[in-house]
Amino acid sequence: MSSIHRSKNYREDFPIFAHFEKRETPLIYLDTAACAQMPGVVMDAVRNFWETSRANVHRGMYALSGRATEAYEDARETVRRFINARSTREIIFTRNTTESINLVAYSLGRSILKAGDRILVPRAEHHSNMLPWRMLADERGVFVDTVDMNEEGFLTVEAVERALKPQTKLFVAAQVSNVLGSIHPVREIARLLRDRGVLFLIDAAQSAAHLPIDVENIGCDVLAFSGYKLGAPMGIGVLYGREELLERFGPFIRGGGMVAKVTENGIRWKDLPDRLEGGTPNGEGAVGLAAAIGYIQTIGFEKIRALEEDLASRALHFLRAVPGIKIFGPSDMKDRSGVISFAIDGIHPHDLATILDRDNICIRAGHHCAIPLHDYLGVPATARVSFWVYNTPEDVERLGKGVEQAMRILKA
Ligand code: ALA
Repeated sequence: MSSIHRSKNYREDFPIFAHFEKRETPLIYLDTAACAQMPGVVMDAVRNFWETSRANVHRGMYALSGRATEAYEDARETVRRFINARSTREIIFTRNTTESINLVAYSLGRSILKAGDRILVPRAEHHSNMLPWRMLADERGVFVDTVDMNEEGFLTVEAVERALKPQTKLFVAAQVSNVLGSIHPVREIARLLRDRGVLFLIDAAQSAAHLPIDVENIGCDVLAFSGYKLGAPMGIGVLYGREELLERFGPFIRGGGMVAKVTENGIRWKDLPDRLEGGTPNGEGAVGLAAAIGYIQTIGFEKIRALEEDLASRALHFLRAVPGIKIFGPSDMKDRSGVISFAIDGIHPHDLATILDRDNICIRAGHHCAIPLHDYLGVPATARVSFWVYNTPEDVERLGKGVEQAMRILKA
């Protein structure tokens, strides 16, 4: 187990912990994979936008609206730099990862894919990276193939290579599994896919707050993530797409802000990125996302990864000793993130989560929107803990004690 010197208590940066410190039971929050807590600097940035710049974005001929537009477009530039995209035309704001992936399915599906084309999807995917492709299968005669992980829940380049067919046009995969915590070798997979002329969509929902992302270096075609998993407000997400590819996307949400000209006989769409952002955009969400990115960058991914590795190693250490436990995902910390799912014989994860909640320990229990993966693992549900910068070794100790107590109650 690694040991790490915590030079700063990041917990202090998140007002929600102070709120619970004042009460009897401090908050032990172990569900970042579902939603990260929000740092105070993000709250301040959003409040500042409301107080100084709130107006419609891209739609007002007055200075206040200009400030809102500037804040929104500055946020787009912050996202561009965060993932090293070449141009802000490659950054589309959406509501979340689910909407980003649906955008690709609707827009790419309608403009590029045709009946008989195939899409390859790992069995471990979240429903949001599965159901949109099934929609294309139902509506357009596209086939969806499945690729399995190895016995540790790790997606290998060889497995992807074996599963590709001559008609495969698109491979979609999470960079980090929301259940198994596996960190997939996306750069190596991208190289293989490029050689085969297959497009690559990465679901970065579980990686964007935990690992550095460089879309140029990875060599993917599209990538999606959600702001709320980075400590930003809910309702803001990102779709990155290579510009040449996005140019071929048909429109998604039709309405205000995405058209240059409308006549009775025709419509001329605006250029990227506006063409794919119909309707009034989420100005405060974008501002909050930019502030959340700024917060993450002040800590740095090296530090974030080290903290998470330390916490996950500690948690794995005590969980492995729990009688009747099965822990899913890679055993080697270099292949896994700070997400750990497990099942304990004779204990339903919902019961475990409910007992932990009595001590204000928040974990997730259920199928985590990945039912095909749970069927494959042979369990209806798992308990899941996930870490971020505000978690501490004491949180892991509290979890350990909580699990022991739950075992005593539930096995009695
Ligand atoms: N997709 C999120 C999770 O895995 C909500 O919990």
